Amino acid sequence: MFASDLLRDRVALVTGGGSGIGLSIVEQYLALGAKVAMVSRNPERLAEATAALKERGFDNVMGVQADVRNYEQVSEAVRAVVHRFGSLDILVNNAAGNFFCPTAAMSSNAWKTVVDIDLNGTFHGCRAAYEHLDASSAGGCIINIITMQALSGWPGAAHAAAAKAGILSLTRTLAVEWGPDNIRVNAISPGPIGDTEGARRIYEERGRAEQERSRVALGRFGKKQEVANAAAFLASDLASFVTGENLIVDGGRWLKYVSEK
Ligand code: NAP
Ligand code: COA
Repeated sequence: MFASDLLRDRVALVTGGGSGIGLSIVEQYLALGAKVAMVSRNPERLAEATAALKERGFDNVMGVQADVRNYEQVSEAVRAVVHRFGSLDILVNNAAGNFFCPTAAMSSNAWKTVVDIDLNGTFHGCRAAYEHLDASSAGGCIINIITMQALSGWPGAAHAAAAKAGILSLTRTLAVEWGPDNIRVNAISPGPIGDTEGARRIYEERGRAEQERSRVALGRFGKKQEVANAAAFLASDLASFVTGENLIVDGGRWLKYVSEK
């Protein structure tokens, strides 16, 4: 659907790029001519994803191990990507942790863990990438993956909802702070996306998949590719005047809330 050279010679770093929605974004960016790094904790997952992508003929791909909670590790990962590919133009903060847990039963460490991965991890990515995005000849681009439940509240996932709301705020702050540096900063809010760890944990394993589907105006879960399409648009020159935006890719779920009780 996009011209096959849409992201030619752009360099992208996708946190949590070895699985799920992140991996679909990696595949899409590679198919559109970008050089792409996947950053996450599990080296086996990264090695497997890298090998599978190389098998498909994508040579400009690398995996870098880092925990986004650790700023030094994120900085080191950014340095490794710039060392290998020569620049950094696009940062996708996609890594996240989530699990269903009523707030009255949530430990302090459970809360902190999710906020640390999602919100602090996103700050770490942005901060570590800044000087390279600032130097990007194409103009820098940050895409943060959030959810509309950041705005509505999310019973059973207060930690993730609060962290993602913080990321939306950071997105808008940086869009203004870094706009003069020609860095665009946007968010994507996917709805429930099929064949992902997120949907498995929060809906499928809890027997809530049908109920969740009924909330979606389009009557189905989204596809990972549908989120990757939005991420390609926002990363490309097609979105050259778009910043501070939260692009909702949720089949109309946020318009059609049905109470769980
Ligand atoms: P996923 O496959 O579990 O993706 C999460 C990724 O984050 C994994 O690759 C994981 O890799 C990485 N990660 C987790 N903790 C990390 C850490 N501390 N440091 C570095 N990497 C870390 O789940 P997904 O469902 O595709 O979710 C992807 C994104 O979409 C998340 O931001 C999620 O909130 C958002 N989202 C998903 C849905 C959905 O329906 N699935 C809906 C709305 C929004 P390692 O284990 O190797 O670290
Ligand atoms: N219910 C309640 N508390 C939970 C929980 C659950 N299902 N899973 C973890 N916790 C708590 C732990 O008990 C611990 O708190 P405690 O010290 O008070 O006992 C705290 O959360 C941290 O857990 P831990 O397993 O040490 O964290 P981790 O850093 O190894 O892993 C997670 C982070 C918990 C977020 C893990 O699920 C993960 O790695 N997720 C990544 C994939 C993912 O979540 N994908 C979906 C994205 S939408």
